Amino acid sequence: MTALSDKDQMKKKVGEYAATFIQNGTAIGIGTGSTAYWMIMALGAKVREGFQITAVPTSRATVELAQAQGIPLATLNDVDRLALTIDGADEVDPAFQLIKGGGGAHLQEKMVAAASDRMIVIADEQKLVNRLGKFPLPIEVIPFGWKQVQRRVAALGCPSSEIRQRDGKPWITDHGNYILDAHFGAIADAPALGHALHEIPGVVEHGLFIGLATEVLVGYADGTVKELR
Ligand code: 5RP
Repeated sequence: MTALSDKDQMKKKVGEYAATFIQNGTAIGIGTGSTAYWMIMALGAKVREGFQITAVPTSRATVELAQAQGIPLATLNDVDRLALTIDGADEVDPAFQLIKGGGGAHLQEKMVAAASDRMIVIADEQKLVNRLGKFPLPIEVIPFGWKQVQRRVAALGCPSSEIRQRDGKPWITDHGNYILDAHFGAIADAPALGHALHEIPGVVEHGLFIGLATEVLVGYADGTVKELR
């Protein structure tokens, strides 16, 4: 087995730590990505020890991982509210505003987070920023006429953006759409930008998460985890 990099060690530590926040008998949202991976693995171990949980997954990749771990799954339509969602992030600012969607799953991730009483973000220390925007903002767009969306995004002050590619072709989301990665640079007013993006026809969902995260667990290189509230 290859040794984990320092970054992966931080992700493992914070992901496993987050699993201790899950209470027996609750319905929870489970995130997507390499940090959420460790939380899901730890949750799988709890389930095998008899823990009763219902989990709403935020992507197809998370469905597959959770099923392999024997975690009982439900869809968002099966639940009224969720007690908690635990998910990763690409950037976290001091007001707990987030950029998400590096894995292209932010549409479902946002719907699940919005249906949750708490959203615990799990991040390594490199994800903490003073201002959002260095990480390109993922915007899920309808493939039809996406260049119109790109022009409207440019008019909001985004000098460059591109459709996410894999093997030379547009990468397709779980919902059959494209991802426009938008390089805004430092975002002065994330809530205003979020509203403006929702006004563009063809935008399905963007990766700005405003007012959703309630807590942030941060993993540090020295092996510690800090709880921010
Ligand atoms: C997926 C996401 C992920 O939570 C985000 O990209 C962080 O991923 P990782 O934990 O692998 O760094 O938003 O859409």
